[in-house]
Amino acid sequence: MTIEIRPLHDAFGAEVIGVDLSQPLGAEEFATVHRAHLDHGIILFRDQTLTPEQHKAFSRRFGPPEIHVVSWYRLPDHPEIIVVSNKKDAEGRPLGLEDAGRYWHSDMSYLPTPALGSILYAVEVPPTGGATMFASMHAAFDALPPERKESLAKMRAVHHFGSRWYREKDKAGIRPPMTKEEEEKTPPVDHPIIRTHPENGRKSIYTGGFSMGVVGMAQDEALEFLDDLDAFMTQPQFVYTHEWRAGDVVFWDNRCTMHHATVYDAQKHTRHMHRTTIKGDKPV
Ligand code: OGA
Ligand code: MN
Repeated sequence: MTIEIRPLHDAFGAEVIGVDLSQPLGAEEFATVHRAHLDHGIILFRDQTLTPEQHKAFSRRFGPPEIHVVSWYRLPDHPEIIVVSNKKDAEGRPLGLEDAGRYWHSDMSYLPTPALGSILYAVEVPPTGGATMFASMHAAFDALPPERKESLAKMRAVHHFGSRWYREKDKAGIRPPMTKEEEEKTPPVDHPIIRTHPENGRKSIYTGGFSMGVVGMAQDEALEFLDDLDAFMTQPQFVYTHEWRAGDVVFWDNRCTMHHATVYDAQKHTRHMHRTTIKGDKPV
């Protein structure tokens, strides 16, 4: 079957039509999907049905898995998969993280070698709400005035998982504290604010919701600076909003996109998703 690539937005994103992700992709099929991913930043596959094994197998084609630092929302027996969900088990314990990613971010930017990409599979979705917004950081970089490109290229942002965790915990009140071990595993790290994509050679702005400081800048000033940059990067012309259908698989490139989950009525509806994450390189 021939594969069709259909753009989702003027700036980035594409739907890939004609691929069944539950089956191993042939070399040519894989090359087409890989190219689409590098060219479009996020790719969407509709009407998929994936077991955890099939999901992991597709993910592994792009690189080794990154295991999430927080252990309780990993899928039992499949630590490579995290559960984004408001479902609960028979004892009323959450099966996954209900309020995942409700702020602009690039997954695992708090690691010394942040994630290459993430593959989110929608098992069950609410009839309204719960969309995910994506922003192209290539498009945002390209739109910067030349002198701003130059000044940002000299700067580094500090990324820290724990600061974000506790901020979200205070907001929604549904997150438990991190364990001591989880905190020790995620010390602050810093990355260049402008990074060059290792595979497509384009530059992007790389900050987002785990960046909690700027090297050499006072904290108050840094937070304001990062907020302003966030506002610039998430202007409507750089943003695609994905309205999920059950069976959707979205594979985003964390090196050149950010994303932001939106709310839904979690009392009335279920939103249940599985995510794999692919290890990436040190940003340069
Ligand atoms: C994630 C995430 C967004 C969403 O899984 O990385 O941020 O809309 N989720 O569930
Ligand atoms: Mn995320």
